[in-house]
Amino acid sequence: MHTASDSRGRHLRWPTRGISFGGDYNPEQWPEAVWQRDVELMREACVDFVTVGVFSWARLQPTPETWDFGWLDRVLDLLHDGGVRVDLATATASPPPWLTAAHPEVRPVDERGYRYEIGSRQTWSPSSPIYRDHSLTLVEKMAVRYGGHPALALWHVSNELGCHNSRCYSPDSARAFRRWLQRRYGDLTELNRAWGTTFWSQHYSAWDEVVPPAASTTFGNPTHLLDWRRFCSDALLDQYLAEREVLRRITPDVPVTTNFMVGMGSPQSLAGDMNYAQWAPEQDLVSTDHYLVGPATGDGAAHHRLSFSADLTRGIAGSQPWLLMEHSTSAVNWQPVNRAKTPGEMLRNSLAHVARGADGVAFFQFRASQAGAEKFHSALVPHAGTDSARWREVVQLGAVLRRLEPVAGSRVEAPVGILFDWESQWACEQDGHPSRLMQPMTIAEQMHRAFAGVTCDVVPPDADLGRYSVLVVPAMYLCSDEEADRISAAARAGAQVLVTAFSGIADRDDHVRLGGYPGAFGDLLGVRTEEFFPLGADETVALDDGTTARVWTEYLTVAEDVDVLARHTEGHLQGVPAVTRRPVGDGAAWYLATVPDMRGLERLAETICATAGLDLHAGQHSDVEIVRRQGENGSWLFVLNHTNEKVTVDVSGTDLVTERVVDGPLTLEPGNCAVIREDSAGTGAPTRKADA
Ligand code: GLA
Repeated sequence: MHTASDSRGRHLRWPTRGISFGGDYNPEQWPEAVWQRDVELMREACVDFVTVGVFSWARLQPTPETWDFGWLDRVLDLLHDGGVRVDLATATASPPPWLTAAHPEVRPVDERGYRYEIGSRQTWSPSSPIYRDHSLTLVEKMAVRYGGHPALALWHVSNELGCHNSRCYSPDSARAFRRWLQRRYGDLTELNRAWGTTFWSQHYSAWDEVVPPAASTTFGNPTHLLDWRRFCSDALLDQYLAEREVLRRITPDVPVTTNFMVGMGSPQSLAGDMNYAQWAPEQDLVSTDHYLVGPATGDGAAHHRLSFSADLTRGIAGSQPWLLMEHSTSAVNWQPVNRAKTPGEMLRNSLAHVARGADGVAFFQFRASQAGAEKFHSALVPHAGTDSARWREVVQLGAVLRRLEPVAGSRVEAPVGILFDWESQWACEQDGHPSRLMQPMTIAEQMHRAFAGVTCDVVPPDADLGRYSVLVVPAMYLCSDEEADRISAAARAGAQVLVTAFSGIADRDDHVRLGGYPGAFGDLLGVRTEEFFPLGADETVALDDGTTARVWTEYLTVAEDVDVLARHTEGHLQGVPAVTRRPVGDGAAWYLATVPDMRGLERLAETICATAGLDLHAGQHSDVEIVRRQGENGSWLFVLNHTNEKVTVDVSGTDLVTERVVDGPLTLEPGNCAVIREDSAGTGAPTRKADA
């Protein structure tokens, strides 16, 4: 088994050999007679890793006084006998009805004061002391009973923390929010300063006046709202840490994770409600779920979003291997139109994650449910049974992943870093900003797509920035002095730093930096803006390099040592710079004062890459994904054809998907993929030749 570093810097033995393969296994939904058959099927498909018990609290503790572990004992024994490693859930994700009926205050309250009813899942408030007590009792029971079980490879705390209960406005939450604020600010004077409460007569004179920002007359106080988002993320992180503490006390050597939803967003936020950059260092291995799927969504950009999310997952994992804890073999029941995946799509999705650093590929769930809310969600074993195309594709995927065993532990090297900052995203989702259309996550995704011809890391602002030839700062609205200094230092040290509009505008208290925009980056970029002129949803502007731009314009003035690369051609901004570059130390600082269309962004990316000595085109076409993983044992080139046409790529080695030797042009049919074990350690970028 390969190793990675866990959250304590220790060597972590990966849960399985090679690339882990499996999914959520929910045997409690089935009679015991099915379990033996399930394990046989797992062996047939090379499944070696399953997550057990995620939603089994009500089964494990059917009444407050009774516990029933016998069935789970038998499941774990069966799995162990079948050679399947277990990611055992702490089972705290959904409290049983007896708990939330006896203690309604456990259930979360929405921003209009409505307390959620029993009948769905994850119906608990992160700040409820009663939930905390009961959940930790369960964790302790699980750890004591199964800590020594030979099948146990990993602890799975709760499930997608924050998926349904990320904001709770209950009295318990109000008390916890005040305690959080007291730790952050010490006293009310500091809170009043940070929140700017002189505006709109919001000065607080006693802590009890401070409440969660529930529904009110109009816009809330921006820093109050931002602190609420920070608190909500921390409140759930606190539940994770409390469970982890119990697990570590009883089973110090078993690694602990909880499954993130990186890049999945939430009803309230494009980036989701948990600041995973802060959560990731607390995981022994980072795991995530991804359900944005391809043609089933009718969204041609889905594979770009998948690769963005995967690169962000690797970014927050500090480039360590990570685990794809859940995706779908086919249909995803919560989509409004729930279509099956097309032939080959599951393999392509799975390999896209592996290409970008996943050392495990797992799904929700092993056997499709007959009953319950997700009965139309796909599974490894579909409703149709094993005499089905889906099962045959699952078996094929297992065989391919088995052949990829040596890839495990290898790394993805990325010359381009794209910063992503959860807090800037949350702040830009508030009312009262220059434009609702200016969203850091959207800009970051567009940048990732523009630079798709080279591999990008998507990293938080506190990452090691010194390793990138190109560093992109997409609408990083909130920025501390220290962060701005580190970004400037990267430019001085030789990086091409591209800052986009609406970056560096406010400090981490969300107070605007005075003296002209873009505040924190004005000196680095040598540019200054006094007022913004954002565009309506249908408006465009033309630049003199042929680019069409949207969303944003500003009246930009530039210092003498700044090169203007593109100017506005029309209207009141005619002649005003829109794209600039300033030499800085051994590198340069580029400013993009608008949002070009995709073609314009790609051209800018080409220019910047050329300056940095990177060949954007040689690597990839944006719909032919080419990513290399490299390790001590070799290098592997992942080539995924997301287009509807045949493509040809020059490669040399053995394709581990088809087990064919390739030396020269490799033609991939539409939707097909290859993983080339390269004959000599690859460094050069392969060329995508003409379409066949
Ligand atoms: C999430 C959850 C699973 C299941 C899947 C499928 O990822 O963790 O329990 O609901 O979605 O939709």
